[in-house]
Amino acid sequence: MNICIGSDHAGYQLKEKIKNYLQNKGYIVLDEGTNTPESVDYPDFAHRVAQQVLTSKDTQGILICGTGNGISIAANKHKGIRAAVCWNTEVAKLAKQHNNANIISLPARFITEKQAIDILDAFFMAVFEGGRHQNRINKIDIC
Ligand code: RB5
Repeated sequence: MNICIGSDHAGYQLKEKIKNYLQNKGYIVLDEGTNTPESVDYPDFAHRVAQQVLTSKDTQGILICGTGNGISIAANKHKGIRAAVCWNTEVAKLAKQHNNANIISLPARFITEKQAIDILDAFFMAVFEGGRHQNRINKIDIC
């Protein structure tokens, strides 16, 4: 599995730490920016990561902004993207088990680096349960 990561300025520092952690674990990480702490617009990075997740094989996404909300709202405009804001390990596990989220969105201003790493580990170790959850996912797209 490959990982595509992106953030706005509020998530930039956490993105750099997470990228380092994941690369040390052996993941191939494609970084879509931002690459400085200067103020940027989160949709630009949400759209880049969403495109990669939709078009690259075996690729999951990580998005980070201050709250995790704006950047996931933008990513979820792409048909086929299921971006889930996750603030603890249990929510992250369920985002994969029940929602088959293909992007995890983190609130950089509300979690520590250690929490972020625990959340990502929980997300990437979890397995989609299918069954009734697949039926529900099939009803998400409306056009
Ligand atoms: C940037 O200040 C902040 O608005 C952004 O990171 C995010 O929290 C938006 O949802």
